[in-house]
Amino acid sequence: MENSKSIGVFDSGYGGLTVFKSIIKELPDYNYIYLGDNARAPYGDHPFEIVYQYTLECVEWLFAQGCSLVILACNTASAKALRSIQQKVLPVKYPNHRVLGVIRPTAEVIGNYTTSQTIGVLGTRGTVNSQSYPIEIAKFFPGVKVVQQSCPMLVPLIENNEHLTLGADHFVKKYLNELITQAPELDCILLACTHYPLLIPKFLAFLPDGIQLIAQGEIVASSLHKYLLNHPEIEGKLGRNVAPKFYTSGDATVFNSRASLFFEEDVASVQIKALD
Ligand code: DGL
Repeated sequence: MENSKSIGVFDSGYGGLTVFKSIIKELPDYNYIYLGDNARAPYGDHPFEIVYQYTLECVEWLFAQGCSLVILACNTASAKALRSIQQKVLPVKYPNHRVLGVIRPTAEVIGNYTTSQTIGVLGTRGTVNSQSYPIEIAKFFPGVKVVQQSCPMLVPLIENNEHLTLGADHFVKKYLNELITQAPELDCILLACTHYPLLIPKFLAFLPDGIQLIAQGEIVASSLHKYLLNHPEIEGKLGRNVAPKFYTSGDATVFNSRASLFFEEDVASVQIKALD
């Protein structure tokens, strides 16, 4: 199978492309397949069961293409579906497959970015309500305080190409203020949604001095690199030197025109059969 031995990269839509770009930069030789579930995005406000069902369907689709390793390049899916897939599905149905998320690798290092020992986290409602970041960060940096703010308007603004408008200014300022008010001493804000890097210019315009903004792409890429070095049994199965392939559950023409904003290169995708 031409796609076999690829690393699968999944997101609800376009956001995972910001992580995928960093992964390809760090690990350019492997074969990759990206899947965006654009037909059913955004996932951020969906209940646990729906995010789990959609994510599992997409992971199984990537497995069927020959991916034995899949990265959930989506915080919402990582928060709501990863653990169940790892603990309940893989051991029973796919013992030789692996699925990794973006929350743990981020939690492992994020405490190194704060001097005031206080971190702000911006994410979707699903990610924030899951409490995944405070729980995971406490395992690696027990002395660090974590405050969170959900930003339900940001993914829809980004998915609809409205993120550089004056309307977006209002929401970026509002969410930043609501976050910083909870802990004015915070000196580090994590963009815990893979869509948000597109808003970095807006965040920087309204960010008070002395607060660092952290995106996840490079963190996740470097963690994947270490994982492959530590797991030769997984790494040894991966193929090399086939150009990345892009698939969407939505309209491929729309995906191609929007995806280049996130991936910073032209993208030619193929629409897959509806997943539901
Ligand atoms: N990119 C996804 C994340 O990191 C966002 C998702 C969505 O609401 O679909 O959470």
